[in-house]
Amino acid sequence: MKYLLSPSVLSADLSNIQEVAAMLREGGADWVHLDVMDGVFVPNISFGLPIVRAFRKHINRPLDVHLMIVEPEKYIEAFRQAGADSITVHYEACVHLHRTVHQIKNTGARAGVAINPHTPVTLLEDILGELDLVLVMSVNPGFGGQRFIPHSIEKIRKLKQMRDARSLGFTISVDGGIDEHNAKDVLAAGADVLVVGSGIFHQEDPVLTMRLLKDLRIDGVWL
Ligand code: DX5
Ligand code: ZN
Repeated sequence: MKYLLSPSVLSADLSNIQEVAAMLREGGADWVHLDVMDGVFVPNISFGLPIVRAFRKHINRPLDVHLMIVEPEKYIEAFRQAGADSITVHYEACVHLHRTVHQIKNTGARAGVAINPHTPVTLLEDILGELDLVLVMSVNPGFGGQRFIPHSIEKIRKLKQMRDARSLGFTISVDGGIDEHNAKDVLAAGADVLVVGSGIFHQEDPVLTMRLLKDLRIDGVWL
């Protein structure tokens, strides 16, 4: 499968969502990544249901909702109703992760689990078979524009090995500090989805940057 690009609109100018949606379409975004932060699980507050609804109204691409909130089980149905196609909760925020994953699946959305940089991929061993997506955080969640943590590459590799060894089907997505320069290493390690925020929206030409990020090759070979 060719990899997918999921731009994170956290770093975009949300005063004009229609314009952001138009840029995403022009740049060829495969998914749209929406970072919901509650100021408790992470030391920052971003946006919630109304912004997800607004993107649903203006763009016809899968909405990839990343919940950086405590007790996400309280809001899963609401985010699905708002238009989420996949809902990702944090391993570190869920006491009954298996139940929460099935709660997501029961809404018809794809179920994802995110892991912070300090959380080993091996802790997912007993839930991997139930998942549609694993989100490897390559920065500590909470802010856009942070530096990629190099150890993430090893985690992606290990996760891919775990998937291959058991012939599982979950998607590997990577989030944080990705740009045109390190994206190839992330893909070569086994990522299927690149989540990119400031690497797109803080660039001079976000549309061109999205196109470049969708067209990566190693030694002339398409990734
Ligand atoms: C970080 C968020 C990311 C963020 C990525 O907490 O989960 O999705 O928007 O932004 P960059 O690409 O700027 O690191
Ligand atoms: Zn995110």
